[in-house]
Amino acid sequence: MADDPSSLDQHCRPGFACCWALILLLASSTCELERRRSDAELGLNPQQASGHHIYEQYCDRCHAAYSSRGRQGPSLKAIFRKPFLSSSGIPANEARVSEIIRVGRNKMRGFGNVLTEDEIHDLLAYLHTL
Ligand code: HEC
Repeated sequence: MADDPSSLDQHCRPGFACCWALILLLASSTCELERRRSDAELGLNPQQASGHHIYEQYCDRCHAAYSSRGRQGPSLKAIFRKPFLSSSGIPANEARVSEIIRVGRNKMRGFGNVLTEDEIHDLLAYLHTL
Protein backbone atom coordinates (compact mmCIF):
# COMPACT_ATOMS: atom_id res chain seq x y z
CA MET A 1 0.00 0.00 0.00
CA ALA A 2 1.28 3.43 -0.91
CA ASP A 3 1.71 5.94 1.86
CA ASP A 4 -0.84 8.71 1.81
CA PRO A 5 1.10 11.92 2.40
CA SER A 6 -2.03 13.96 3.11
CA SER A 7 -2.95 11.86 6.17
CA LEU A 8 0.56 12.31 7.49
CA ASP A 9 0.16 16.04 7.13
CA GLN A 10 -2.91 16.07 9.33
CA HIS A 11 -1.09 14.49 12.22
CA CYS A 12 1.87 16.85 12.21
CA ARG A 13 0.58 20.14 13.47
CA PRO A 14 2.63 21.01 16.51
CA GLY A 15 1.15 24.51 16.48
CA PHE A 16 -2.31 23.20 17.27
CA ALA A 17 -1.13 20.81 19.97
CA CYS A 18 0.68 23.68 21.64
CA CYS A 19 -2.39 25.89 21.51
CA TRP A 20 -4.53 23.25 23.18
CA ALA A 21 -1.95 22.61 25.86
CA LEU A 22 -1.91 26.32 26.67
CA ILE A 23 -5.70 26.59 26.74
CA LEU A 24 -6.00 23.55 29.02
CA LEU A 25 -3.34 24.91 31.32
CA LEU A 26 -5.05 28.30 31.58
CA ALA A 27 -8.46 26.70 32.12
CA SER A 28 -7.23 24.41 34.88
CA SER A 29 -5.32 27.15 36.68
CA THR A 30 -8.43 29.36 36.66
CA CYS A 31 -10.38 26.49 38.22
CA GLU A 32 -7.75 26.08 40.88
CA LEU A 33 -7.96 29.78 41.77
CA GLU A 34 -11.74 29.60 42.08
CA ARG A 35 -11.60 26.55 44.28
CA ARG A 36 -8.96 27.89 46.63
CA ARG A 37 -10.87 30.92 47.89
CA SER A 38 -10.80 30.93 51.67
CA ASP A 39 -13.83 30.72 53.94
CA ALA A 40 -13.24 34.33 55.00
CA GLU A 41 -13.07 35.54 51.41
CA LEU A 42 -16.32 33.72 50.72
CA GLY A 43 -17.86 35.28 53.86
CA LEU A 44 -18.87 31.91 55.33
CA ASN A 45 -20.05 31.43 58.91
CA PRO A 46 -18.64 28.43 60.85
CA GLN A 47 -21.41 26.02 59.78
CA GLN A 48 -21.12 27.04 56.13
CA ALA A 49 -17.33 26.77 56.35
CA SER A 50 -17.64 23.23 57.68
CA GLY A 51 -19.97 22.45 54.75
CA HIS A 52 -17.43 24.01 52.38
CA HIS A 53 -14.75 21.59 53.58
CA ILE A 54 -17.07 18.62 53.23
CA TYR A 55 -17.93 19.83 49.72
CA GLU A 56 -14.27 20.08 48.73
CA GLN A 57 -13.62 16.61 50.07
CA TYR A 58 -16.61 14.77 48.59
CA CYS A 59 -18.38 16.82 45.89
CA ASP A 60 -16.02 19.26 44.21
CA ARG A 61 -14.36 16.77 41.88
CA CYS A 62 -17.71 16.14 40.17
CA HIS A 63 -19.58 19.41 40.75
CA ALA A 64 -18.33 22.96 40.14
CA ALA A 65 -19.62 25.39 42.79
CA TYR A 66 -18.58 28.74 41.31
CA SER A 67 -18.76 28.14 37.58
CA SER A 68 -21.63 26.76 35.56
CA ARG A 69 -19.39 24.34 33.72
CA GLY A 70 -20.26 20.68 34.21
CA ARG A 71 -17.71 18.21 35.53
CA GLN A 72 -18.71 14.56 35.92
CA GLY A 73 -21.95 15.94 37.32
CA PRO A 74 -23.84 19.20 36.73
CA SER A 75 -22.69 22.50 38.24
CA LEU A 76 -24.27 23.29 41.61
CA LYS A 77 -23.76 27.03 41.20
CA ALA A 78 -26.82 28.92 42.53
CA ILE A 79 -28.46 25.56 43.26
CA PHE A 80 -31.03 26.94 45.74
CA ARG A 81 -31.63 30.20 43.88
CA LYS A 82 -33.71 28.59 41.18
CA PRO A 83 -37.01 26.73 41.64
CA PHE A 84 -35.74 23.55 39.92
CA LEU A 85 -32.43 21.70 39.70
CA SER A 86 -30.85 22.43 36.34
CA SER A 87 -30.14 18.95 35.07
CA SER A 88 -33.08 16.94 36.44
CA GLY A 89 -35.89 19.46 36.95
CA ILE A 90 -36.36 18.21 40.53
CA PRO A 91 -37.64 20.96 42.88
CA ALA A 92 -34.63 22.71 44.42
CA ASN A 93 -35.51 22.33 48.09
CA GLU A 94 -33.61 20.91 51.07
CA ALA A 95 -35.70 17.74 51.26
CA ARG A 96 -35.01 16.69 47.66
CA VAL A 97 -31.37 17.79 47.63
CA SER A 98 -30.56 16.01 50.88
CA GLU A 99 -32.28 12.90 49.50
CA ILE A 100 -29.95 13.02 46.45
CA ILE A 101 -26.98 13.43 48.79
CA ARG A 102 -28.10 10.50 50.98
CA VAL A 103 -29.21 7.96 48.37
CA GLY A 104 -27.54 9.25 45.19
CA ARG A 105 -29.06 9.47 41.73
CA ASN A 106 -28.24 7.52 38.56
CA LYS A 107 -24.45 7.71 38.20
CA MET A 108 -23.96 9.54 41.49
CA ARG A 109 -23.49 7.32 44.53
CA GLY A 110 -25.19 8.17 47.81
CA PHE A 111 -23.31 9.57 50.80
CA GLY A 112 -25.81 8.48 53.47
CA ASN A 113 -23.32 6.05 54.99
CA VAL A 114 -20.32 8.38 54.63
CA LEU A 115 -21.67 11.66 56.03
CA THR A 116 -23.42 12.15 59.38
CA GLU A 117 -26.71 14.06 59.65
CA ASP A 118 -24.78 17.05 61.04
CA GLU A 119 -22.38 16.98 58.11
CA ILE A 120 -25.28 16.90 55.64
CA HIS A 121 -26.82 19.91 57.42
CA ASP A 122 -23.52 21.79 57.18
CA LEU A 123 -23.24 20.85 53.52
CA LEU A 124 -26.77 22.17 52.84
CA ALA A 125 -25.92 25.40 54.68
CA TYR A 126 -22.94 25.82 52.36
CA LEU A 127 -24.96 24.98 49.23
CA HIS A 128 -27.33 27.84 50.17
CA THR A 129 -24.40 30.28 49.80
CA LEU A 130 -23.79 29.30 46.15
C1 HEC B 1 -18.33 10.76 41.12
C2 HEC B 1 -18.99 12.00 40.80
C3 HEC B 1 -19.94 12.62 41.80
C4 HEC B 1 -19.71 12.94 43.12
C5 HEC B 1 -18.45 12.66 43.95
C6 HEC B 1 -20.88 13.64 43.58
N1 HEC B 1 -21.80 13.72 42.57
FE1 HEC B 1 -23.60 14.69 42.62
N2 HEC B 1 -24.03 14.06 40.75
C7 HEC B 1 -23.17 13.36 39.93
C8 HEC B 1 -23.85 13.08 38.68
C9 HEC B 1 -23.26 12.33 37.49
C10 HEC B 1 -25.14 13.64 38.79
C11 HEC B 1 -26.27 13.60 37.76
C12 HEC B 1 -27.19 12.46 38.17
C13 HEC B 1 -28.37 12.35 37.22
O1 HEC B 1 -28.24 11.65 36.24
O2 HEC B 1 -29.39 12.99 37.49
C14 HEC B 1 -25.21 14.27 40.10
C15 HEC B 1 -26.32 14.95 40.56
C16 HEC B 1 -26.32 15.72 41.72
C17 HEC B 1 -27.40 16.62 42.12
C18 HEC B 1 -28.64 16.92 41.29
C19 HEC B 1 -28.27 18.07 40.36
C20 HEC B 1 -29.31 18.38 39.32
O3 HEC B 1 -29.19 19.47 38.70
O4 HEC B 1 -30.21 17.56 39.09
C21 HEC B 1 -27.03 17.17 43.31
C22 HEC B 1 -27.82 18.18 44.14
C23 HEC B 1 -25.76 16.60 43.67
N3 HEC B 1 -25.36 15.72 42.70
C24 HEC B 1 -25.06 16.91 44.82
C25 HEC B 1 -23.85 16.32 45.20
C26 HEC B 1 -23.20 16.58 46.46
C27 HEC B 1 -23.67 17.58 47.50
C28 HEC B 1 -22.08 15.80 46.48
C29 HEC B 1 -21.07 15.65 47.60
C30 HEC B 1 -21.58 15.06 48.83
C31 HEC B 1 -22.04 15.04 45.23
N4 HEC B 1 -23.14 15.39 44.48
C32 HEC B 1 -21.03 14.17 44.86
C33 HEC B 1 -21.88 12.98 40.23
C34 HEC B 1 -21.27 13.11 41.46
